[in-house]
Amino acid sequence: MPSEKMKYSYLPVHPEVWSVPRFLVDEEKCTGCGNCLVACPCDCLELVDGKPRYIQGMACMACSACVAHCERDAIEMQGFYKVDRGFWKTVNFQPDDGYPMIPQVEGIEGLTPVEEVIYKRRSNRIFSKKPVPDELVRRVIEAGRFAPSHGNCQPWAFIVINDREEMDRLAKAMDPVYRNLTGFFFSGKTNKITRGIISVLSHLRPNMFDHRAMTGGKAILQPKDVFVGAPCLIILLADTRGINMPELDIGICGTNMILAAHSLGLVTCWLGFVIAINFLPKLKKELGIEWPYKVVSGIVLGYPRVNADSMVKRDLPRITWIKGGKKWTEMP
Ligand SMILES: Cc1cc2nc3c(=O)[nH]c(=O)nc-3n(C[C@H](O)[C@H](O)[C@H](O)COP(=O)(O)O)c2cc1C
Ligand code: SF4
Ligand code: SF4
Repeated sequence: MPSEKMKYSYLPVHPEVWSVPRFLVDEEKCTGCGNCLVACPCDCLELVDGKPRYIQGMACMACSACVAHCERDAIEMQGFYKVDRGFWKTVNFQPDDGYPMIPQVEGIEGLTPVEEVIYKRRSNRIFSKKPVPDELVRRVIEAGRFAPSHGNCQPWAFIVINDREEMDRLAKAMDPVYRNLTGFFFSGKTNKITRGIISVLSHLRPNMFDHRAMTGGKAILQPKDVFVGAPCLIILLADTRGINMPELDIGICGTNMILAAHSLGLVTCWLGFVIAINFLPKLKKELGIEWPYKVVSGIVLGYPRVNADSMVKRDLPRITWIKGGKKWTEMP
């Protein structure tokens, strides 16, 4: 008998252990514009009789992008993505409303401007065609340059592709990586041997084989656009010799960049899918990426066609406090 952790490693064949939020649409408010479908990174929605519906069986990651991109405020998501048992079991606390708990602080009224942006800035996946001036891109990168890093080693480098035709070429070159990977992953639904292999790989590389990520990977296959229609891409590279954890430094650097971009009137979406470049030697050469650098992530940016900024639901993390000789855990 396989252990529960091994038995439920491949979730597509175990719908009994995972659930997604309820997707509710106010049909009076909904105009059938389709923005929620465009914004969904997992292709979980379809239009039925002109109204959006959740497609049964899809791994909705409860990101609320559909909610955020609906200008008519017509969508409500109830609940979260949740796995009840096995290796992928959800550990965060998932309250009904899921909004951040914002403690009242004496002397500080409401949210500070920084908090306001942190809570309300959303990944945008519906861009206008308006180009981004190079000076603004430079200014965004400047914010990254001033990020903290382990030992101030500043292990970053950037590739700016502010050219939609070049981005299209890059998207085409990356496509086979995701086509093969997701094809292999979803073949496990019918093929017991691949399912067994993926179950083992899931334990070795969980970051790669989460079925939400695979659902997202399938949703960007061409003719879909991995760069979600944005006019500009910044690829974030790490010097692999960076002190301690260069990938973490890149994350902090990118966070500075997206917040600065927001303050400059731009919208952004992180683009982790660009790591496919690391598996394509010819493309790496064309882009001039060589040791000690590797691609860690990307950020697409531009001007919004739809304003997605709003507060959305999130899990609550476990917090352990240690104070005055006592230790207690608040959540879950
Ligand atoms: C490092 C990182 C990589 C990401 N990569 C992608 C990506 O490749 N494609 C995409 O559409 N969204 C990507 N996202 C965006 C996430 O899906 C998004 O941040 C998440 O759903 C929460 O939504 P929010 O940013 O609106 O709060 C990425 C986010 C992060 C932090
Ligand atoms: S974005 Fe809003 S208005 Fe448009 S189809 Fe979706 S629910 Fe309807
Ligand atoms: S919550 Fe995110 S993944 Fe789920 S349907 Fe909405 S946009 Fe798609």
